[in-house]
Amino acid sequence: MTTCRIGVIGLGQRIAHVLAAMQEVGWDLRVDAHVDAAPVGAPILAAAGIALGRPCETPEALLREGPFDLLMLGGPNHLHREHLAAVFHAGVPIFAEKPIVRTEAETLDLARALAGPGAPDLYIGLVMRSLPIVREVIARVDSGDLGEIVSIDATEHLPPEHGGYLARNWRRRREWGGSYLLDKVCHDFDIFGRLIGARPARVASFGGRRIFTPERAGRPRTYEDGSIAYDLRDAGWQGAPDAFTSDMDVTDHQVALVEYANAARLSFHANSHTALAERRWYVAGTEGTLIADLVRNRLMFRRALHRGKPERMDFGDRTADAHNGADQAMARDLAEALAGRAVFPVTPWDSLEAGLTVMAVDRAMEDRVMLDCAPMWAAYDAARSGAASTQSASRS
Ligand SMILES: NC(=O)c1ccc[n+]([C@@H]2O[C@H](COP(=O)([O-])OP(=O)(O)OC[C@H]3O[C@@H](n4cnc5c(N)ncnc54)[C@H](O)[C@@H]3O)[C@@H](O)[C@H]2O)c1
Repeated sequence: MTTCRIGVIGLGQRIAHVLAAMQEVGWDLRVDAHVDAAPVGAPILAAAGIALGRPCETPEALLREGPFDLLMLGGPNHLHREHLAAVFHAGVPIFAEKPIVRTEAETLDLARALAGPGAPDLYIGLVMRSLPIVREVIARVDSGDLGEIVSIDATEHLPPEHGGYLARNWRRRREWGGSYLLDKVCHDFDIFGRLIGARPARVASFGGRRIFTPERAGRPRTYEDGSIAYDLRDAGWQGAPDAFTSDMDVTDHQVALVEYANAARLSFHANSHTALAERRWYVAGTEGTLIADLVRNRLMFRRALHRGKPERMDFGDRTADAHNGADQAMARDLAEALAGRAVFPVTPWDSLEAGLTVMAVDRAMEDRVMLDCAPMWAAYDAARSGAASTQSASRS
């Protein structure tokens, strides 16, 4: 393998972890240049023994430092569209972090660009697609073991230190992160769409801020053993000093109901301050039921008319980042895709559709309505087919 020459725009914790995982699974790589005035990922790269490369002021300046074999985009979510546009026609494959973009208007804009001439090879970091347990869930559903998917119940519940980080980091502001659900669980909604095989038709959602509020600022700040509960990690770019008195404007807990076009129904419950962490998908089909426990990396399955013990699979590989080896698996998938030996497990279109799904959920919550998604999908399909849509999905 010749050395992969990489340019990075937005060298935060995430891209640093992905680069470290790439190296760990055998990539011969070198970061030749980066755009990031204060790279939050620098210590992670240093620990992995990867140099930062030359600092550049802008993406355009970075491109002049080429040639590159891969460009990696890892800025905050509001910069994804802008950074993608800056390198779109550079003729270099791009790995970009999720969510692919932050708003409905950006989604339509990018869909038009992707449908147009000269679109690059674009790989989106919806890392759960590479996770062995998720691959197994998809394979089970595709094999027909569950029959038709009737309903799904899913959760993501974070421990206090993780919620506290979200409340201090740039993700706390809609203008930067988009929303709590968009940043945190676009992964899950991507997989649900893939399992169900249809788009959401109607969505409803309730949520708000009842945890990280100034009224609760006087509550204890440590666990019972004295360890720090909320300020564990540096909050990084645009970080706020305090989780409870920051200018946070996204939700800290939210529930959603989704009815898909093929009548599959889904409920989702997310909370950013729980004592019992959970990321769990309960998938009920006409012929069988499956529980994927993404925290413990375990899967359970039983056919509807079986009374014996459920089949259990333990995928091991549990890691503190709750990614359970997904970064390494994605690094392998990316290497295979770049070499033309395999198709990357997720497309930019999947990413756009997962993002739109979550954006619809958030819009339903904000507008206090049950949202009919048909106009949104019509606008998206028009953009995909290259039409200058007159339908509005123009929230910015
Ligand atoms: N796939 C996953 O599981 C996963 C996990 C975490 C984060 N992410 C995604 O990765 C992205 C980065 O998140 P993070 O946790 O690394 O955040 P971070 O705060 O650690 O890093 C963001 C970096 O962007 C830099 N930056 C800010 N403005 C910039 C600009 N104009 N040009 C270039 N760089 C700029 C900051 O200085 C910082 O170093 C986000 O889109 C996030 O959603 C994905």
